[in-house]
Amino acid sequence: MSMGQWERFLEPYKQAVAELKVKLKGMRTQFDIENTNSPIEFVTGRVKPLASIYDKSLEKGIVFEPSVTLAKEIPDIAGLRMMCQFVDDIETVVQLLRSRKDITIVEERDYISHKKQSGYRSFHVIIEYPVQTIHGEVNILAEIQIRTLAMNFWASIEHSLNYKYKGVFPEEIKNRLQYAAEAAFRLDEEMSLIRGEIQEAQKYFSENKELSTPRIKEEKI
Ligand code: GTP
Ligand code: MG
Repeated sequence: MSMGQWERFLEPYKQAVAELKVKLKGMRTQFDIENTNSPIEFVTGRVKPLASIYDKSLEKGIVFEPSVTLAKEIPDIAGLRMMCQFVDDIETVVQLLRSRKDITIVEERDYISHKKQSGYRSFHVIIEYPVQTIHGEVNILAEIQIRTLAMNFWASIEHSLNYKYKGVFPEEIKNRLQYAAEAAFRLDEEMSLIRGEIQEAQKYFSENKELSTPRIKEEKI
């Protein structure tokens, strides 16, 4: 298999990642302009390196060649990640994605209510995205992972440890990673509670304006 063929095969994926990064980052900017707390903290994107495509094709038992089968079997050749501050923001972001006209959601995987055995949590959306090329339109698959900062913290460390241990963790490490994933999730829950209480307090004070009069004024009278 020549490198040129892979280059040609991967080009629309590169294009898609670049375009989607601009579009998804744009969503964040639009919230900022409106002075609304953005449910999106930051966005990243990457094209799966050829070495990882090779590993994945071995794992899936498919031939390592640029083909329709490989494109279907590995739906995350184009991958985007959207990080949120709070767990509730994830649903907001998914709704925003569902309502977009430039992408078609073909699959949703909720690894938040159904965490993976490893402890991994995230919401995955597989989309179909049209890329315009000099030979016409090509529809490619891309994966968008939506997760909180805490979920991302856990996943990125677990991923690098996984690499180190070549995917086989000793039982004890496995248990501790699961425990760490739960700790990250409790942190998310606590942050949501704190946000909720602050919002309640703000609502109460805006409804009872006299209570929010600065005390210094009373002293002056
Ligand atoms: P793999 O989990 O990679 O075999 O792909 P899959 O076809 O089973 O799809 P799945 O939805 O399970 O995972 C897709 C992507 O989610 C992966 O490429 C990772 O980015 C991420 N992911 C899934 N499980 C884990 C996990 O246990 N730890 C970490 N760090 N990331 C995970
Ligand atoms: Mg998997």
